[in-house]
Amino acid sequence: MEYFQVVLLLALIPGSTSLDNGLLRTPPMGWMAWERFRCDIDCNKDPMNCISEKLFRDMADRLSEDGWRELGYEYVMIDDCWMSMQRGSDGRLQPDPDRFPGGIAKLARYIHDRGLKLGIYADMGSATCMGFPGTTLDKVELDAHTFASWGVDYLKFDGCNSNAIEQLIGYPLMSKALNATGRPIAYSCSWPAYIGGLPPNVNYSLLGDMCNLWRNFDDIQDSWDSVQSIFDWFSTNQDDLQPAAGPGRWNDPDMLIIGNFGLSLDQARTQMALWAIMAAPLVMSNDLRTLNNDALAILQNRVAIAINQDPRGIQGRRLLQEKSRIEVYWRPLSHSANALVFLSRRQDMPYLYHSSLAKLNFPAGSFEAYNVFSGKTLTGLSDKTEFTVSINPSGVVMWYVYPARQSPRPPKDTGRYPYMRRKYRMSSFHKII
Ligand SMILES: *[C@@H]1O[C@H](CO)[C@@H](O)[C@H](O)[C@H]1NC(C)=O
Ligand SMILES: *[C@@H]1O[C@H](CO)[C@@H](O)[C@H](O)[C@H]1NC(C)=O
Repeated sequence: MEYFQVVLLLALIPGSTSLDNGLLRTPPMGWMAWERFRCDIDCNKDPMNCISEKLFRDMADRLSEDGWRELGYEYVMIDDCWMSMQRGSDGRLQPDPDRFPGGIAKLARYIHDRGLKLGIYADMGSATCMGFPGTTLDKVELDAHTFASWGVDYLKFDGCNSNAIEQLIGYPLMSKALNATGRPIAYSCSWPAYIGGLPPNVNYSLLGDMCNLWRNFDDIQDSWDSVQSIFDWFSTNQDDLQPAAGPGRWNDPDMLIIGNFGLSLDQARTQMALWAIMAAPLVMSNDLRTLNNDALAILQNRVAIAINQDPRGIQGRRLLQEKSRIEVYWRPLSHSANALVFLSRRQDMPYLYHSSLAKLNFPAGSFEAYNVFSGKTLTGLSDKTEFTVSINPSGVVMWYVYPARQSPRPPKDTGRYPYMRRKYRMSSFHKII
């Protein structure tokens, strides 16, 4: 089918462009099973790691007891492989009875009792990517209703085993069906990733009225190659992607793999820094039960999180790609502050990069720069000051840059982020600095 026919068809779907659920005014934070635990369903051989209610309870325990929740990591998210191979006699999706003997509603209560939220997974199509029951067009409303009745707070709606027409009808239909349940359920659409992720196939302004976030590109894998391919794709296409993001509507470059096996310490900091710049969901897929202190320190870095969660919700951009293979990324923030990331794509030794804020398009003025990973503050910077940063191979230097002698007002308290409110007001943020 030609693109223009698709657009015409979309125009025929009544009221397909409305998502006003008030959710995800900043990018979602939490934990998701897929990258680390995949479709491990053998609970006899691998009871600690199989997709089961125990895994999600364990992660809820860690999120609530190890300081994550207070930092904003609040969603516990099930991905593929939670279902029974058959729908119930009532036509409803049901969890695998051996791996989820208590059912999803009970798991939701366990998670809610810990001040957390539950995410679940379904697939627009005849089967999920791993072959479990899909949500065909005739099942969209029933499945939305089932999820709401269980107390689900977030739906990842994948797109395996459907064609472009079914997706075109199904994704807006699910948006309406979730709204019609009356339960606020954040809606993550994998749709763009199935149609190339770019205009004209994807109309991001339309999508942002329908979904709270969307996967644009390939699944992340546990490797530096995968992380690089993702931020390269997002940066190469930033003119199309960056304007699409804002409060309630986010590009999703996929999960944080920090704490797994594929990244060095520097590469892990790079993922955290660039995901903060990109206003990306901070959704970890790792084993919170065995995380080492280096990974913990990166994922719980308060300033990196505050940059990611900045209430203006403006996605950042790659500013420069130097011949030296140094790249500079920038994101504007509240209170006339900015985040800068200096990234080295080199493979030799720490590189001394010289620049000034004026060269990075800053206005005239005096500034201070807080180094997010070293904790040191650079004072007495003017826009013209020449500075030098030492950047490790495949590593970053990340700065929070703010006007000197400014005393910022705390951001408006919307009451939506109870945990952020206590710990993350910009005023206390400035005390950290
Ligand atoms: C449903 O949509 C309406 C208008 O678009 C909005 O006011 C309402 O909050 C939404 N409800 C839910 C549960 O998402
Ligand atoms: C994208 O959708 C919006 C409606 O939200 C419409 O106004 C706009 O013309 C569309 N853009 C393209 C290129 O089709």
